[in-house]
Amino acid sequence: MDTTVSTPAPERKKIIFSGIQPTGVMTLGNYLGAVRNWGPLQEDYHCAYSIVNMHAITVRQDPKALRENTLRAYALLLACGIDPKKSIVFIQSHVRTHAELAWVLNCYTQFGELSRMTQFKDKSAKHADNINAGLFTYPSLMAADILLYQTDLVPVGVDQKQHIELARNIAERFNGLYGKTFKVPEPYIPKVSAKIMSLTDPTKKMSKSDENPNSFVAILDDESTIIKKFKRAVTDSEAVVAYREGKDGINNLMAIYSSVTGKSFQEIESEFDGRGYGDFKTAVGTVVADHLKPVREEFARLMNDKAYLEDCYRNGARQALELSQRTLDKVYKKVGFVL
Ligand code: TRP
Repeated sequence: MDTTVSTPAPERKKIIFSGIQPTGVMTLGNYLGAVRNWGPLQEDYHCAYSIVNMHAITVRQDPKALRENTLRAYALLLACGIDPKKSIVFIQSHVRTHAELAWVLNCYTQFGELSRMTQFKDKSAKHADNINAGLFTYPSLMAADILLYQTDLVPVGVDQKQHIELARNIAERFNGLYGKTFKVPEPYIPKVSAKIMSLTDPTKKMSKSDENPNSFVAILDDESTIIKKFKRAVTDSEAVVAYREGKDGINNLMAIYSSVTGKSFQEIESEFDGRGYGDFKTAVGTVVADHLKPVREEFARLMNDKAYLEDCYRNGARQALELSQRTLDKVYKKVGFVL
């Protein structure tokens, strides 16, 4: 009897790369819109996540704060469920191939292309006293981050899509000149992603750089702060919990509630049918605070175990270097550097 079963060849797991800047606090918006989705991806993809401190110095940073924020951002990624045994988690400046490839890619990126980047235009308007060359060439460093790992997919927010598009153009241009060297990456917007708006002005994106601290919830805010911020959230005068055009504040709270509980808008509407906004706001604040509690606790535990954290980021850097060096070697060979 023939007992052989033909099993299809296992498909190669796709590679995911993303980076997060270590600037200040991470908000509920960053969390629900991005970082929360990164943990589950680890099961189906090879993932690499980097704290991109080299990108951060394109605007002036206080060195002590940058160092502290880099460690905090690293610990926060782990606290949000990114497992350093499953993914490569590292600090960008620890892996020299990023700066090395960025230099080469700078020579294959046009001045005109970089001038068209909306983030560059926004940031140069905001930091008019420090429009440095690094701010201008930021997208070629980002392209290097991505292309070094032969990345298939890059989970990012819509604000980064233009940078991914440029990374693709650089990759295609280089491949066109020298033969296939880089995988051409695609942006990846996870299915369950939510754009979270400011609590005080729900027509604006929730941002950690907002000068009004009531406008955002930080992942590490404590329970009473979170509930207080939701109670103060700007809504409308209709007093009906419904998802509708023109109800930006309520729409945002519903999006948050839905994102945390998994309930549909319809379920939320009937749950709060006939109840006031006060009830609804408290309910949103409570589920968010409960949801973030384990993250906050794990973060505190990790920050108290610096030796473990250091183990993780040294190991992450070793793995990242090993992988990225293969791509860099190919590139150096193709452009004619003596090896
Ligand atoms: N530019 C990204 C941001 O500001 C951060 C970033 C740097 C990044 N390198 C990356 C994101 C590579 C994805 C892939 O959010």
